[in-house]
Amino acid sequence: MKEKVLAVLKQKGGYVSGQELSAGLGVSRTAVWKAVNSLKEAGYGIESVRNRGYRLISSPDVLLSDEIKSQLSTKWFGNKILYFDTIDSTNNEIKRQAEKGAPCGTLAIAEFQSAGRGRRGRNWQSPSGSGIWMSFLIKPDISPDKAPMVTLVAAMACAFAIREELGLDAMIKWPNDIVIGGKKTIGILTEMSAEMDTVNYIVIGIGINVNMTEFPEELRRTATSLALECGHQVARSRLVAACGKYFEKYYEIFLRDKSLKNLKKTYESALVNKGADVSVITADGTFNRKALGINDMGELMVEDETGRVETVRAGEVSVRGIYGYV
Ligand code: BTN
Repeated sequence: MKEKVLAVLKQKGGYVSGQELSAGLGVSRTAVWKAVNSLKEAGYGIESVRNRGYRLISSPDVLLSDEIKSQLSTKWFGNKILYFDTIDSTNNEIKRQAEKGAPCGTLAIAEFQSAGRGRRGRNWQSPSGSGIWMSFLIKPDISPDKAPMVTLVAAMACAFAIREELGLDAMIKWPNDIVIGGKKTIGILTEMSAEMDTVNYIVIGIGINVNMTEFPEELRRTATSLALECGHQVARSRLVAACGKYFEKYYEIFLRDKSLKNLKKTYESALVNKGADVSVITADGTFNRKALGINDMGELMVEDETGRVETVRAGEVSVRGIYGYV
């Protein structure tokens, strides 16, 4: 009930009478009053004025599933939300859920990860209260070789969600890091369970540096947070909802086409590497190339000094700027 009351208060923006709430939600005035009290206990600022009703004046920056649900306007993303104060890794949790038959859209989100994982077997530092550490489940009807494209779809979703919510110039470093001002703000770890020719499920894990104001020495040069970039603290649950909304939008187009052909332009409009000189790091060595953009499969097209163009696949190579991280 409290999430429904919260949703109405947010949607109306001003005073909503107890009568209107109870009639609209089909519950007693006492049930509304109890819901308001429990929202206040959870940290919401709600003003109650005689003859006018209730008005939401502030929301705590919490990631509780009720708070996220009240922000969501998605069709399936977050249809089931699992919230944890502490967990090993939200990717691990979504895998456990998937093995138990959880539906597409199931979202796990945690305040703290004790064993957060990054790409290439790295750790992902996930301090308490200042980031978004979330993973969700999808079950696309695609062949496993198409799965890497989902990561690019997730990157687009995050970049455009941040642009819309905060007006920051979020860019994508191919294939799926989000950078602001040349520093990494979001990392995405996509993991898959598949047979030879079918995908059982895919876990998309997204780590967003939101409100931290300091980074450990080893990350200071290459990492930043949204709060550092926009100069104020950021409400995390709104951002979760915005990422979900954009993911659904782009993923629908991807599923229809089974390629990025109709998303390529949008992706490239945020691609920080486009037209840039990059180092392509492969198992056979490091080569300097010019990044041209992506093809329909999400591979990066690079050109050598003779004008010869080749494509490189995410997962097989990594790409760095010649002079730094981007
Ligand atoms: C990267 O190396 O850039 C990817 C980092 C992905 C981190 C996120 S945080 C939520 C989810 N759970 C994890 O253990 N990892 C991902």
